Amino acid sequence: MENRSNFGSKLGVILASAGSAVGLGNVWRFPTEVGNNGGAAFIFIYLLCVVFVGVPVMVSEFLIGRHTHTNTISAYQKLAPGTWWRYEGVAGVFIAFLILSYYIVISGWTLYYLILSLTGYFSQNQDYVSCFSDFVSHPFQPIIYSALFMLMTHLVIARGVESGIERFSKVMMPMLLFIIGILVVCSFGMPGARQGLTFLLRPDFSKVTPSVVLSAVGQAFFSLSLAMGCLCTYASYFGPDTRLVKTAFSVSTIDTFVAVLAGFIIFPAVFSVSDVEVNAGPGLVFITLPNVFHMAFSHVPILGYFFSALFYVLLLLAALTSAMSLHESVTAYVHETMHLSRRRAAALVSISCMTLGIGCSLSFGPWSNYTIFGLTMFDLFDFVASKIIMPLGGIIICLFVGWKLDRKLVEDELTNGGTHRFRLFRIYLFLVRWAVPLAIALVFVHELLG
Ligand code: TRP
Repeated sequence: MENRSNFGSKLGVILASAGSAVGLGNVWRFPTEVGNNGGAAFIFIYLLCVVFVGVPVMVSEFLIGRHTHTNTISAYQKLAPGTWWRYEGVAGVFIAFLILSYYIVISGWTLYYLILSLTGYFSQNQDYVSCFSDFVSHPFQPIIYSALFMLMTHLVIARGVESGIERFSKVMMPMLLFIIGILVVCSFGMPGARQGLTFLLRPDFSKVTPSVVLSAVGQAFFSLSLAMGCLCTYASYFGPDTRLVKTAFSVSTIDTFVAVLAGFIIFPAVFSVSDVEVNAGPGLVFITLPNVFHMAFSHVPILGYFFSALFYVLLLLAALTSAMSLHESVTAYVHETMHLSRRRAAALVSISCMTLGIGCSLSFGPWSNYTIFGLTMFDLFDFVASKIIMPLGGIIICLFVGWKLDRKLVEDELTNGGTHRFRLFRIYLFLVRWAVPLAIALVFVHELLG
């Protein structure tokens, strides 16, 4: 493709990819999963999943994207023309679209909560449960906030790769890391810090079951933005001297670091307020935390004000950089294969995604009784994406790179044409050929049969 844009700098590559990875998954989903799956034991399994499953899959996606320099669907077509492998690309882009449509719902709530916290709402005593449930079940209020969030994402994507995605990631990611630092320090000073840390650091392995392991795999995929063509699309904008393995390690490290730090922010805060439950589910950051902000800082409300406002800014920044990558994965495809200008392609994706998003948003309110297999539209999308397509996609990507692609091509891509060494190449090959597909398949089948 002529004149295809690229990221302009190495820092841009890392910050944009880390921006994709660090998202609601880290700050909202990870602590919830930790709370539901036995605390530190889950974290331990999760770390293993990141190193042995997440990193190899990320490297594989990077190499597919960088080698082909095109959107995910065309990438598979280019590497294996006319074979069924191309459906992996199709599934990825399609599911990225589904994820974006429910991702903007939660992101919309975040925007609303940011505004609430800025107005000082959480410094007074409120009924946080009905505040949340009234809002999310309202027929159009949450839709408006989702639409606003979609608009923000759209504006960045429409600007393009270098002056949109890269430029914004370079501003937003450092801000995000800085805010996390401040919040961790605040949280350590809270009365429940010790209990919170014990919960996070002392593992209870009796809680580990195959379904916990599948949750950990699913969480690792979700958090690292794997198997949906996002990182593959970003990698198609990498230059020839970007080191793929190193980048994958940096991105996974930043992502895991942020997830664990989010736990360090949330659990000490939660344990500081004795009557709040740890595993409060998806309501954790929208019901439990506002309560915590209010109670833990009742003696100095201004601190509670700052803490809550900063927290929701953090969540919003994280959500935005991730939504950008989901959007880009679909937009790149529409732009490159339907011969629409980038702006039009982005508009088409934004509008159609928002339309589905309305359904996801309504599934918390007027449509909550419409279910398929007992799941609302929102839950169904999340279930299909993170429990089915992501593990399957992971297996397929590994098999594709391990068995279908020419070994020389893979090695060349990972060493930038032999300009540096990749000592772990044999281990990588073993992981993508055997270990990762088998491991995912085992937990997956167990979960299906169970
Ligand atoms: N990784 C992001 C998060 O942690 C979400 C995300 C962005 C994502 N792109 C993705 C999840 C692709 C799965 C696949 O919130």
